[in-house]
Amino acid sequence: MQIQPPIINIFEKAVKKAGKSIIRDFGEIENLQIQSKTLGDFVTTADIKAEKILLETLQYYYPNSTYVTEESGKIQGDTETIVIDPIDGTTNFIHGIPLIGIVIGRIFNGEVTDGVIFNPILNEFYWASKGKGAWCNNKRLRVSKRKNLFDCVIGTGIPHANRTYPKYLDEINSISKNCAGLRRMGSAALDLAFVAAGKLDAYWERNLNLWDVSAGVILVKEAGGKITEPEGDNWTIKSKDILASNSYTHPKIQENLKII
Ligand code: IPD
Ligand code: CA
Ligand code: CA
Repeated sequence: MQIQPPIINIFEKAVKKAGKSIIRDFGEIENLQIQSKTLGDFVTTADIKAEKILLETLQYYYPNSTYVTEESGKIQGDTETIVIDPIDGTTNFIHGIPLIGIVIGRIFNGEVTDGVIFNPILNEFYWASKGKGAWCNNKRLRVSKRKNLFDCVIGTGIPHANRTYPKYLDEINSISKNCAGLRRMGSAALDLAFVAAGKLDAYWERNLNLWDVSAGVILVKEAGGKITEPEGDNWTIKSKDILASNSYTHPKIQENLKII
């Protein structure tokens, strides 16, 4: 078993504390106040409370870091950047679907170096650090070894409301004809964690934010997977679109996503 680096211990402390608050709210969904930021993009009092707990815990240990958070925006510091999504999968949360992740990622020199995703409902704690592997509840994670696209189950995000883009139905059509099944989990962070765990063979989605994917990117890389943009360009912390998979299927999926 890999000993967790100190930064992961602190991230774990933060997400487990926030997780307790989220579990309480999950049990009383009917009492939650829900606001719509834009059409189909929700925030609840549970998101706000969880983010406050995360920030309080993290800022105690890392007072000088820059924080990029989904609900409170950017807090400028002068060392590394810590990216936070208090609930990835808010729509699932509101509907009582237990697929959510509390996400923290650390960015240094333009690269994700460490990340955690915690699903408090299923009690799954994922972490990865550069050079230290990817883990879930003390079990080492590896991406799947499937080579044939017809055997693969592939995750994606189905855009809705004002997030749709012209080619998404063509992309879904092209991939679904050539694989064993498509999945829409409703949490980009968990999609990436599931690729790292070899549960999903691949995942692609467009129009994401860094807080959705920061921790997932290091998880997939440390589990031996490949991350690029869907067209094959290098994924950077400025990228909005992502393709994650094992290295065997990556070029085939890329080919299928090339819609003229
Ligand atoms: C969303 C989830 C979802 C993805 C959306 C994200 P949120 O994050 O990751 O899977 O399709 O694009 O915005 O709003 O639940 O934090
Ligand atoms: Ca999110
Ligand atoms: Ca969120």
